[in-house]
Amino acid sequence: MTLEEARKKLEQFGQQHVLKYYDELSDAEKQELLTQIDETDFSVLANCKHLGKSEARGEFAPLAAMQVPEILERKDEFWAKGVEALISGKVAACLLAGGMGTRLGSDNPKGMYDIGLTKHVYIFQRIIENLLDTVKAAGGNYIRLFIMTSEKNNDATVAFLKEHNYFGYPEEKITFFKQDMAPASDYEGKVYMESKCRISTSPNGNAGWYTSMLRAGLRDLILEEGIEWIDIFAVDNVLQRICDPCFVGATLTADVSCGAKVVRKNAPDEKVGVMCLEDGKPSIVEYYELSQEMMDAKDENGDPAYNYGVILNYLFREKDLFDIASKSLPLHVVEKKIPYIDDNANLIKPEKPNGCKFEQLVLDMIHMLDTCLPYEVVREHEFAPIKNKEGIDSVESARELCKLNGIEL
Ligand code: UTP
Repeated sequence: MTLEEARKKLEQFGQQHVLKYYDELSDAEKQELLTQIDETDFSVLANCKHLGKSEARGEFAPLAAMQVPEILERKDEFWAKGVEALISGKVAACLLAGGMGTRLGSDNPKGMYDIGLTKHVYIFQRIIENLLDTVKAAGGNYIRLFIMTSEKNNDATVAFLKEHNYFGYPEEKITFFKQDMAPASDYEGKVYMESKCRISTSPNGNAGWYTSMLRAGLRDLILEEGIEWIDIFAVDNVLQRICDPCFVGATLTADVSCGAKVVRKNAPDEKVGVMCLEDGKPSIVEYYELSQEMMDAKDENGDPAYNYGVILNYLFREKDLFDIASKSLPLHVVEKKIPYIDDNANLIKPEKPNGCKFEQLVLDMIHMLDTCLPYEVVREHEFAPIKNKEGIDSVESARELCKLNGIEL
């Protein structure tokens, strides 16, 4: 892109300040900035006016989950089916590690965080150890592990895992790919600059994984290896069971497009997204969208009808995702802390949120599918998220849950 073309594009979106330092830049920096301007979709910035406004939703109805007693009763059947699928290579795992982990407040990728007390226990290590349990259940057959990073944390993630010898996972079974980025702006929709020659960007949300995978050319590998199902999961749940045979078996048996691990809510107003139907299709209602009527609603057994929260562990039928890949997902505006350069070009790392990021969310991906099986897991055994430094969903609470499950730290 030439300077003239860049000027025109920026003018169209009211972002002329991006070129403020252009004349001071080296030739290489000029080129870097022009390329970034060329590649950036500034149209997303108009969405910042929707910040804090509730989004239009359809009509909600309960979606029954497969509960623990039924799972235990059918355990042998599900386990056998799951193991068979794992051994035949039909199931892959995809670690979502593209997030910025701003609430945890570490500059490193979240997976590098050490939760150990008497020895090193890195989050990545816990994830790989959990995956190795599945490999063992599948008779030693290694499962393809995709790891999604972002432009911001890719090099550190790859170097860290290599340095630790992938915590015992075979390198040839791991495939890294980078997630797409979106510009980040102030509340008026003006993009921030993170240096004189770089627009501030952030990963485009946890639903960006599939299209980013396609863009990285990984469909060929998926077809070549006969992968039919992909279990995606968050990096920050250190008790995460990955591709666990029962879950795989139950989802395949139900013949649905997607299986979703859910936990029974602690309280009707607990702050988790709840699996439900929206206009007859699977969806997730956010905790702040639950009306009192929905919180009070009961199923035929007298239990709360909206009772199962999602934990960001989904098993998707890949073909069904491919079929909807061309449909664009809605963008959500999220308020976040965005590092930027001030008027004197000093880099500022704000203590409080200072603008908007634009993200695609997995819930919209699920809503595009026709069927989903919510599959109950026991919270104390499978859900120990690390979002914050202290308090709820923190390093401390995750350590307690690890201890409860006999994991030495
Ligand atoms: P969160 O929604 O908790 O976001 O991610 P985060 O970026 O890790 O943390 P905060 O909000 O800045 O504190 C849930 C999971 O989705 C992944 C994260 O890495 C985590 O595993 N994720 C999130 C991505 O891979 N890409 C994204 O763009 C966002």
